[in-house]
Amino acid sequence: MEGFDYGISELIADLRVIIEDAESEWEILEQARPLVEWVSQKPDSWLQERRFRSDGKQYLGANILYEEPENGLTICTAAWSPGSYIAPHDHNTWEIVSSVIGTMRHTCWTAVEGGSSSGHVRIEKGCDFVLRPGQAAAVMPNEIHALENFGSGMGLSLHIYGRKLPEVERRRFDPECGLEEKRA
Ligand SMILES: [Fe+2]
Repeated sequence: MEGFDYGISELIADLRVIIEDAESEWEILEQARPLVEWVSQKPDSWLQERRFRSDGKQYLGANILYEEPENGLTICTAAWSPGSYIAPHDHNTWEIVSSVIGTMRHTCWTAVEGGSSSGHVRIEKGCDFVLRPGQAAAVMPNEIHALENFGSGMGLSLHIYGRKLPEVERRRFDPECGLEEKRA
């Protein structure tokens, strides 16, 4: 829409309505993903310079933009130095992730053997695609994915989660060793 700034405040307002009306998490993702792409295409109105920091070595923790006190909706950005990577993981809640600056490689993984009680789980690589600025991927609570800064420069991603991350049990997987660990 020409001349209309769609920023984080507008996204939050729309997400509240979508979450309240949706009959499933799948429906939330289907309706919200285009809006996350929209806000990611024009970051000038909401992105501040301090949210583009990195230690130059690895993926930095989340820079929280918003946390809904009641339903836990969380919005954050992450800065990625060249080549930085986050291993396969899940969230126990839905996520929409987009590239705002740079290109991100998004890889889906599937657990094919083992489970949380044993600490051993074998995962296999599935689909693999690149997110360019303004493109988003949707991840259901039981899905496993990995992310990598696929470009030669700094990258910046936007993440929307259905719940506050400290409140949910998340897992990180090691495909080589077949191990899983709880994430803080
Ligand atoms: Fe994730």
